[in-house]
Amino acid sequence: MKPKLERLLITGAAGALGAHCRQNVGHLAKILRVSDRLEITREGSATQNDTEEIIQCDLADAAAVQELVKGCDGILHFGGQATESNWKFVRDSNIEGMYNLYEAARQQECKRIFYASSIHAIGYHSPNTVIDDSATIRPDTLYGASKAFGEALARMYFEKFNIETACVRIASCQPEPKNHRMLSTWFSYDDLVRLVTSVFEAPVLGCPIIYGVSNNQRRWADNTAASFLSWSPQDNAELHRNRLDQAMEQPPSTSDDFNFIGGPYVSFGIIPEEDEHQ
Ligand SMILES: NC(=O)c1ccc[n+]([C@@H]2O[C@H](COP(=O)([O-])OP(=O)(O)OC[C@H]3O[C@@H](n4cnc5c(N)ncnc54)[C@H](O)[C@@H]3O)[C@@H](O)[C@H]2O)c1
Repeated sequence: MKPKLERLLITGAAGALGAHCRQNVGHLAKILRVSDRLEITREGSATQNDTEEIIQCDLADAAAVQELVKGCDGILHFGGQATESNWKFVRDSNIEGMYNLYEAARQQECKRIFYASSIHAIGYHSPNTVIDDSATIRPDTLYGASKAFGEALARMYFEKFNIETACVRIASCQPEPKNHRMLSTWFSYDDLVRLVTSVFEAPVLGCPIIYGVSNNQRRWADNTAASFLSWSPQDNAELHRNRLDQAMEQPPSTSDDFNFIGGPYVSFGIIPEEDEHQ
């Protein structure tokens, strides 16, 4: 099929999910533009030819982000602080960086974005109920609060400027589930690529909240609001249960893992500014 997009920008392309999509979403655009604040080499490219452009860019640099977005008609936005950290790191990448990206999208007339939000925006909810797109924002960390800010910003740019965004609250996107909590939160790499594809191929997107989880037997996420997409997650973490049972003890039912969607993040404190942990 002919690619729908002229040029798809992938931010955070040196990271885990960005590097995976760099290899697997080439069918969506004539040109992939891959970017990170870290250096990216040609070796990780699926094409090894001139259908891929590499641009090193810090999202906190507004002028550089304008240049980065120029000529792009879609953005797969993975770049950012991807776990809890101190306020400076969270602010620079996920608050300033997010604003810079949306301002560039507005000024450069880029109309569709896949935003890698997180379940840590709603981490204080219980996983023992079903959660849909109407769940109240209940961030469990500064990181989670920054992801909620990103969702609000995306919504504002949709209402005002008709920039469409899939706000994807990714749960645990890993090659395979690493612990018992992930029997409910696992999001397989294949299901991620399927979702990215359906977001950029949809005739109309709007600004939906979507839970980035696989078709797990124990999932708590209800994605009815995203049923207009052609996406249908295929993988089920339950197939990994025996391996996990043999490899490790299951935590007690009273642990944060089983009582909060955010799991261990709910008991994190505030990391001081002087701490260089990222
Ligand atoms: N992997 C998951 O399970 C998961 C879960 C929820 C949300 N997410 C979100 O998905 C995205 C990708 O996650 P990941 O697991 O690949 O993380 P990752 O840390 O492997 O990748 C993030 C990339 O963003 C880059 N980056 C950070 N700040 C930047 C800045 N200011 N300018 C430019 N680049 C910057 C980093 O260098 C890194 O390469 C993140 O936004 C993360 O919050 C991931």
